[in-house]
Amino acid sequence: MCGIVGYIGFRQAFPILIDGLHKLEYRGYDSAGCALISDVDGKANIYKAKGKVSDLEQKTNNHDCSGTSGIAHTRWATHGIPNETNAHPHTSQTRNIILVHNGIIENYTILKEQLQQKGYSFETETDTEVLVQLIQYTMDTVPGCQLDVAVRLALKKVIGAYAIVAVDAKNPNQLVCARKSSPLAIGIGADNKEFFIASDASPIAQYTKQMVYLNDGEIAVCERGKELHVFNLDNEDIDPEIKEVNIDLTMLSKEGFPHFMLKEIFDQPNVLKDCMSGRVIKDGDNYRVKLSAVENHKAELVDAKRIIIVSCGTSWHAGLIGKQLIEHFCRIPVEVAYASEFRYSDAVIGKGDVVIAISQSGETADTMAAIELAKNHGAFIFGIVNAVGSSIARMSDSGTYIHVGPEIGVASTKAFTGQITVLVMLALSLGMAKGTVKQSECNEVLQELTNIPEKICKVLTQNDKIHSLAQTFTYARNFLYLGRGWNYPVALEGALKLKEISYIHAEGYPAAEMKHGPIALIDSEMPVVFIATHHQLYQKIISNMQEIVSRNGRILAIVSENDEQVKGIAKDVIEIPQTINCLVPLLSVIPLQLLSYHVAVAKGLDVDQPRNLAKSVTVE
Ligand code: F6R
Repeated sequence: MCGIVGYIGFRQAFPILIDGLHKLEYRGYDSAGCALISDVDGKANIYKAKGKVSDLEQKTNNHDCSGTSGIAHTRWATHGIPNETNAHPHTSQTRNIILVHNGIIENYTILKEQLQQKGYSFETETDTEVLVQLIQYTMDTVPGCQLDVAVRLALKKVIGAYAIVAVDAKNPNQLVCARKSSPLAIGIGADNKEFFIASDASPIAQYTKQMVYLNDGEIAVCERGKELHVFNLDNEDIDPEIKEVNIDLTMLSKEGFPHFMLKEIFDQPNVLKDCMSGRVIKDGDNYRVKLSAVENHKAELVDAKRIIIVSCGTSWHAGLIGKQLIEHFCRIPVEVAYASEFRYSDAVIGKGDVVIAISQSGETADTMAAIELAKNHGAFIFGIVNAVGSSIARMSDSGTYIHVGPEIGVASTKAFTGQITVLVMLALSLGMAKGTVKQSECNEVLQELTNIPEKICKVLTQNDKIHSLAQTFTYARNFLYLGRGWNYPVALEGALKLKEISYIHAEGYPAAEMKHGPIALIDSEMPVVFIATHHQLYQKIISNMQEIVSRNGRILAIVSENDEQVKGIAKDVIEIPQTINCLVPLLSVIPLQLLSYHVAVAKGLDVDQPRNLAKSVTVE
């Protein structure tokens, strides 16, 4: 989704802004822009381009980009088509107030009408222009009103979600930022001589570790040489919490891989070790899980009458595996809901219920709204989140980070396996606390969990084979992915990965459901991917395969090592190492991630930034 970068200090702002925009490209966008305030005459130089940040850079060639303060933006169109006019920054009628904005101003139509009646005219179709004009109007009508006050008063009239950075070209010594439901991080340089602002910490981490994450309803003034001043919409001063944020900068580079997605697929063995580190513990002959979030909230979790998992997309698929894990190990009933549906449902939920919110970004608008609803009904919220310091992490009563490092590729890969790993640890730790898991079973699962990174390495050695296979699938217009039990969510995830980045229509189904409809689609043109590892319902899935073969379908099967039966049926097979049932998804998803990656590359598509998609979906 949109990305914001801002800088004010003693260095030239332009290279910092452009580098920052590149670091936020992963979020997904369709146009970009920046404003530099000249130190010489206070003039604002604004540049915009449809397309990529590199197009914006080209636009600025041989133009004045000097200045030690500036703001920049990547836009993911909501109100108004992606073009230069609608790209940010937007300016007020006087051209003095300049603004970048993430989010949606829901009451923009009525505000626009009111401003038009007062003589303000508009040049764009965006909701953001309404906000910048409203700020200008406030400055025009409230005597002596400076930008910070005008931002506060204007935002009090706004309904919706926003992260903004504004500058008054007449007073370029300060940037004013604000947030509601859309993230904003402020990096503080030594002695407050400079400030870095961004939608997440990735563009800032190379300059400073001192970070403030604004909370909803907070406004911050960044002024050279002065302490960060934070206050709220009611004009009460807030003491900002300065966090030391350590980001492994290697996670922000491709490290020699052609795409972030491939790097992140190959990162999985190491990051899953990080995820387990200090949490899977061997004491003598026995294994145990140490999750402080569970230890600190044992009563709420162990006594849960019911657990509801809320999430979206890939995180929802992880939730389906979480349901099986928790029901199997803890005997607590679990429901899995799309956050986007749950938030508007007439949910029967209350005290004694636990809601687990799963999110890579920690900023997904629907998941945040689902949490709010559950909180208001008295449920206990447990977050499983990757992005440290993110909104969902902060709004949860308790939770566990997955610790797989920043995920840049839009298609989620290592976050999915990280989420499953946390869910395994959570289910076992709760099961042990409830007495529904025996120590011997805990030992068996955890010992095998520690073997998973090595087994993933083994699957990754088949990258070349999957690459060749992928070349033979680029013709396909439709794919079917089928799995059962633990592999049913993997089928859904495989299909989602393929459609996201290769734009091939793909459906995931529980294999036995095929007979109830999708079988009508089967012909020699339709590849069917079966996840047919040696586990529960193996023989039944073989029968499902036979049904496909007898209709001339082309089968690619993911099988367990040394499988002989499927080899006789499927045209192509990819083997994965044997493991215990509940850990199968951690291995069976890997070839599917690689398959979708290689099909998309073979089709010449932009794997890391697929069309229309955003990495964190911060609007409804
Ligand atoms: C798929 C993908 C999306 C996200 C979904 C939820 O590859 O990335 O489906 O899983 O938008 O995002 P988070 O996990 O950040 O809440």
